[in-house]
Amino acid sequence: MAEQLPDFTGKHILITAGPTREAIDPVRYISNHSSGKMGYAIAESFLKAGAEVVLISGPVALSLNHSALHIVDIESAAQMFQACSLYFEWADIAVFAAAVADYRPETTAELKIKKAGDNLNIRLVRNIDIAGEFGQLKKPAQLSIGFALETDHELENARQKLTGKNFDLIILNSTNDTGATFGHDTNKIRIIGRGNMDQTLPLKLKSELAVDILEAISNLP
Ligand code: CTP
Repeated sequence: MAEQLPDFTGKHILITAGPTREAIDPVRYISNHSSGKMGYAIAESFLKAGAEVVLISGPVALSLNHSALHIVDIESAAQMFQACSLYFEWADIAVFAAAVADYRPETTAELKIKKAGDNLNIRLVRNIDIAGEFGQLKKPAQLSIGFALETDHELENARQKLTGKNFDLIILNSTNDTGATFGHDTNKIRIIGRGNMDQTLPLKLKSELAVDILEAISNLP
């Protein structure tokens, strides 16, 4: 069956995807297991739907080529924030699909840290909340879409993020679902929108879910 994509012809879409890496020293970093697959699948669907896409991507093992796509490769949360700053105003819709590291080492050692003693303490400091910052700057004509990955109190936490970060719609992933989240080609999501949108979808390919997400965006009141 052919994919039923809503029309996003000429719309400007900003997407963050993948993990960030927060450097400890020149050879080590703190990161997470995000593969970037969901963000890239959403980018691909928007391109098929006629949009222009800027994809701010952390380090991932994925590639995507399209004449209406511009990929900006970044590593750290600070770099992701800077790249988003260049494009947020341009965007009609911003999709924050990246798994941004919440903390980074307070300092990055210039030289490789040599082992000494039984313990090593690394002090971490908070990273900027990218989606939260742009949520504050969002104009009435712009839409902002977020993700929430939760292990517990899923709905409550997702609703808090929806309002706290001024999202129009949030996609909830639970780590309790098998075949879902990091690295898998499939995912099980619940789409919660402002107003009373609340849609639980079965386990599906991320490419299929991307189409459902585009539909939900186009159905926002
Ligand atoms: N996000 C972001 N910048 C951050 C942290 C999160 O843009 N520094 C975005 C993510 O891309 C996602 C949403 O905010 O769309 C929620 O991310 P999540 O990590 O689940 O939420 P946090 O705000 O980090 O809350 P916590 O880790 O405490 O659950």
